[in-house]
Amino acid sequence: MAELAFVHHYQPGKTPASPTLLLLHGTGGNEHDLLGLAPDLLPEAGVLSPRGKVLEHGMPRFFRRLAEGMFDLEDLRVRTAELADFVIAAAAQYGFDAARVIAAGFSNGANIAASIVLLRPGVLHRAVLFRAMVPLVPDPLPLVPGTPVLVSNGRADPIVAAAETERLAALLRDAGAEVTLVLQAAGHHLIPEDLIRAREWLGSSGRSTQGERR
Ligand code: MLT
Repeated sequence: MAELAFVHHYQPGKTPASPTLLLLHGTGGNEHDLLGLAPDLLPEAGVLSPRGKVLEHGMPRFFRRLAEGMFDLEDLRVRTAELADFVIAAAAQYGFDAARVIAAGFSNGANIAASIVLLRPGVLHRAVLFRAMVPLVPDPLPLVPGTPVLVSNGRADPIVAAAETERLAALLRDAGAEVTLVLQAAGHHLIPEDLIRAREWLGSSGRSTQGERR
């Protein structure tokens, strides 16, 4: 078996046709961090959970940043392509359905998931973005028609301002994604309601409830 490009955890889904959750951790996390979310989000799904390759003071991330919220866009593009290629290669190696990969990312992991949605349309069937911000604004803006994306951010997040959440939702909608935006009574950390809403959304038809607020 060829070696895949990321240290990762993989577990198959209930059947080969089951979707696969691509779990993407936040800064300082690893491939084990979000495993506990999978049974809550989509119990029948397989799990592919890579570890980010960039080290910031020893903390794994999925791409370099110059400062909090200031991303190294060249690195982000390269890392986005590498991660998207990893997903495709992992599907071939493990035999899961490459057309049914659903990202669930937190913070830095959510940001690279949004970047995959924008830069590599078609790799992600759907994406759940917890505490996400605008990763980059591609010019020209790609078209990702109909990609369902759930943005689940916190109203009191000291890292992701409300305006940044709006900017992200608008960017994804402009690109044609079906965005559901949920604002939780939370900061940067996840709360149980994030998982409850994400599970509901994943269990729904995938159609958008645009502009939804709570
Ligand atoms: C983080 O701490 O991970 C940031 O808020 C998000 C990022 O740098 O991508």
